[in-house]
Order: sequence, then structure tokens, then C-alpha cells
Amino acid sequence: MTAQKSTHGSGNALDVVGDVPVRLEEVIDREALVEMCRSMQSLFGIGVRVYSADGALLANVASDLDICGLVNDSSQGRVACGATVSAAKSVDPGDDGDVVHACFTGLAYRIVSLDYEGRRIGRIVLGPYAPAGLREPPETLARTVPKLDVIQSTTRLSAVARVKPEALGRIAHHLKTTLELIIFSSHKAYVTSKLHLYSVRESYRALEEKTQRLEQAHSKLKELDRLKSDFLGTVSHELRTPLTSIIGYSEMLAEGIAGPLSKEQADFVGTIHGKGEQLLGLIMGLLDLSKLDSGTMSLRQASMQIAPTLQEVISTVAPVAKKKGVELVLDDDGVACELAADAERLRQVFVNLADNAVKFTPKGGTVTIRARVADGGASDDDDEGGAVLLAPVRRVVVVTVSDTGIGIPSAERNKVFDAFYQVDSSSTREYGGTGLGLSIVKRIVEAHGGTVVISANEPGGTVFTVTLPSAQARRTLPSRLPPADRT
Ligand SMILES: Nc1ncnc2c1ncn2[C@@H]1O[C@H](COP(=O)(O)OP(=O)(O)OP(=O)(O)O)[C@@H](O)[C@H]1O
Ligand SMILES: [Mg+2]
Repeated sequence: MTAQKSTHGSGNALDVVGDVPVRLEEVIDREALVEMCRSMQSLFGIGVRVYSADGALLANVASDLDICGLVNDSSQGRVACGATVSAAKSVDPGDDGDVVHACFTGLAYRIVSLDYEGRRIGRIVLGPYAPAGLREPPETLARTVPKLDVIQSTTRLSAVARVKPEALGRIAHHLKTTLELIIFSSHKAYVTSKLHLYSVRESYRALEEKTQRLEQAHSKLKELDRLKSDFLGTVSHELRTPLTSIIGYSEMLAEGIAGPLSKEQADFVGTIHGKGEQLLGLIMGLLDLSKLDSGTMSLRQASMQIAPTLQEVISTVAPVAKKKGVELVLDDDGVACELAADAERLRQVFVNLADNAVKFTPKGGTVTIRARVADGGASDDDDEGGAVLLAPVRRVVVVTVSDTGIGIPSAERNKVFDAFYQVDSSSTREYGGTGLGLSIVKRIVEAHGGTVVISANEPGGTVFTVTLPSAQARRTLPSRLPPADRT
């Protein structure tokens, strides 16, 4: 009988189980084996012992026979009996795998081999039993134990069940077949579980390798990111100085300090000045981003109200909105709530949002900045612990910047906060900008413990909602912005 080896997995997986010889003691369940031997003994009245290939006793179901008790009463009998039993235990059943081993008492043992996949993996020892032809104690018994009572030994020998060789052969065959069947299924389960274990180990190993590779890639990316921030910081800083000179000198030229300009010259100088300002904006954005990334931007935390900041924002964006024909509305009616924040950074946040709103809204549209105070739910940092019902309610300031412009598709709403990401980055893009504004907005808002989310405006356009915790809700404020997690 051969075990079916699973063919899934790699060649290595088969090596795990392929050439290892089956060991009876490993694949068989001892309790089930003893139980089976016991049922054989109770059916046929013959003791059964099962040994592994190494001679280890795995099951021993044999009741003491009276004749054996009598023989063991004498010291010669005990020695002879021990020798017979150990010989029966280690006798080689030969190529046929079936041999009879005689006892000096006239009784006998039948030794049958257990084979699996062409290998001998153990032995079954049946007996002692009385061969069918045994009528009286043999001469070997009298010779081995001379003082033995002949009548008693005759009586006791005759009490042992007679078994014909053919009948015993059938019993032995039955037992052998049953056992080999059990070994087959046990081995199959053993192979399956080994393969399973192997495949789990393999997956774990592969996973570990992947994790290691990912970790390496991650630290490499982090290092590259740091280098990028350093580079951005240095380059932006170095560009800013000559650029301020360009802007300053173009201003002086425009004012006629170096002499009067013709109309064409004034136009050119105006363009130099405008582009210089645009470039300065970009450089300042890059500098901010690199500071935010490295965590070196500090917040000047102070008590403030949102309304004056929003009014400043409106006046900053108003000229562009007017030029474009977009209406600007500020709705901050009576909003009074103390914030512990950096007013300049918050102004930067709302200028960016308002600037976008105007930029992406066509002529005739409206941009509305609305502020209100709301309840932000129970405070998490309640020191009283457990008194949820009595926990102070967090006040939050909610500022929405809504427009009636081109809108942002919902799939893009998270991505636009990534640095340099623009919804339409094609070369035919009609709007200016570099894609830095929103990434700066998000980091500053989050550094204030707030959130910024995008939703659609009705019937069209975009709404940016910034929620900032009030001073009362923010007991502590980091004095430095934490480095952005860019993993
Ligand atoms: N109000 C809006 N309406 C429609 N699209 C918007 C709006 N605000 C932002 N976006 C989209 O999100 C992108 C990223 O905005 P972000 O402010 O970061 O960059 P930008 O405005 O293109 O350039 P920058 O702000 O650096 O000058 C924009 O390019 C645009 O595609
Ligand atoms: Mg922008």
C-alpha cells in the first residue's frame, strides 16, 4: 500500500516528506492501536503485541496464561520464559513476513511483519497460543523445568485455546491489513499536516522577506524625501535673495527713478515685476513646504479671533476677484470665539483657499467665506475621567470657503492635498499655480489640531470646510509644527 503524496507546492515541499521513512511510532495513534489489539484479543483469545522497527513496544494486550504462571513459579522456568519472550520479540519474520516461534512449553508465537511502502516498519507478535496438535506437555518442558508437576502442567496446557495454523494465518492477515490501512490514513494525514506546516512556514518566510524589502525601500524613500526637503529649502532660500533684487529694481524702474520709460519699456518692466512676484510666491511656498516637512516651522501661538483674519483675506483677494468679475462675500456675523492660533499662518490658509476659489470660478460666479461657532462634541481631554455627561463641550470654529466654480471630482478630493498635485496637470491647463497651496493648508490646519475637508457645492462648485478647535478646547498647542508623515 502506498501513501498518496500531495503534489502541490514546490519540489522543496516534497523534499520535506518525500524521502523520510515512515516511523510507525510517529504516524499511528497509540490509543487507537491498543484499542484495536484489545478487540482482537477479546475476539480470538490470543494476546497481541505490536513493536516498532526499532523494537519499541507500542501495544501490549496479552493476559497471563495459567501455564505461564506455573512455569514462572520456578527459577529455571522464569529464566527460560524471559528468554523465549525476548526472542519472540526480536525474531526476524523473514522475507515472507510471517514466522512461528516455538516456546519450550509447547505453546507458540506467530510473528508477522508490518510493511509500508516496501519498508518493514514493525512487527505483530500473536500469542502465546496452543498449536492445534498439542496434546501433552512436550519433552522440552520437562527438560527445562524438571520439577514441574506433570498433571498440573497437562491440565493447564489443555486449558489454552487450540488454534489451527490456517485460522491463525487468517487472524494475522486480518490484523496486518487493518493496521496497514490505519498506517496509510495516518501517514496521509501526517504528510498533509507536514506540507501545510511547510507552506505556512514558506509564506511566513516570503512575507518576512517582503517586509524587509519594504522597510528598506521605506527608509530609502524617507532619506530621499529628507534630501528633497533640504534641497528645496536651500535652493528656495538662495533664489529668494536675487529675486527680491529683481523685484525691487523693476519697481524702481517702473517708478521712473532711473529716468522716464517709454510705454513699451514700462510694459516690459511691469511684466518683469509681475513674473518676479509670481516666482517669489512659488519660492515662499517651497520654503514653507520644506519647513513643514522638516518640522522646523514654528507657530506663533496667540489668542485671536477669526473675523479680523478673514476680513484681511477678503481684502487680499478682492483685487483679483474684481478683475475676474467674481463676487466675494464674507459672512462672519457675530462670530466670536477665542482661538489659540498663529494668525499669520491662518491668514495664509484662507488666502490659499480663497485664491483657489476665485481662480477656479468663472466670471459672474460667487465666492463665499462663512464663519460660525459650533459644538465639536465632548472634550477628549477631560481630566475628571468618566464623567462623560458632565464633560465640557468642545467649541469649534468652522470656516467654509465655497465657490460656484468648476468643482473637484470626488475621486480627486483627497489627492489635491498632496504636494504638486493638480486635477488637470496637462500642458493645456488653463489655470496657473504649482499645486503647493493645499498641501500647505492641510499641514497648517492639522498643526492647529483642526481638519480640512472638501465637499461639493450646490448646484456646482466646491466647499472647503476648515474646523479649528477653540482656545478652550486646546489646552496645549505645539510650539513647532510636527514633521509631516509622508510615508
Ligand atoms: N476651489 C477649487 N475649485 C476647483 N478645483 C480646485 C479648487 N481648489 C483646488 N482645486 C484643485 O486642486 C489643485 C491643487 O490646489 P493647490 O492650491 O494645491 O494648487 P494650485 O492652486 O494649482 O497651485 P498653487 O496653490 O501652488 O498656486 C488645483 O490645481 C485644482 O486642480
Ligand atoms: Mg492654490
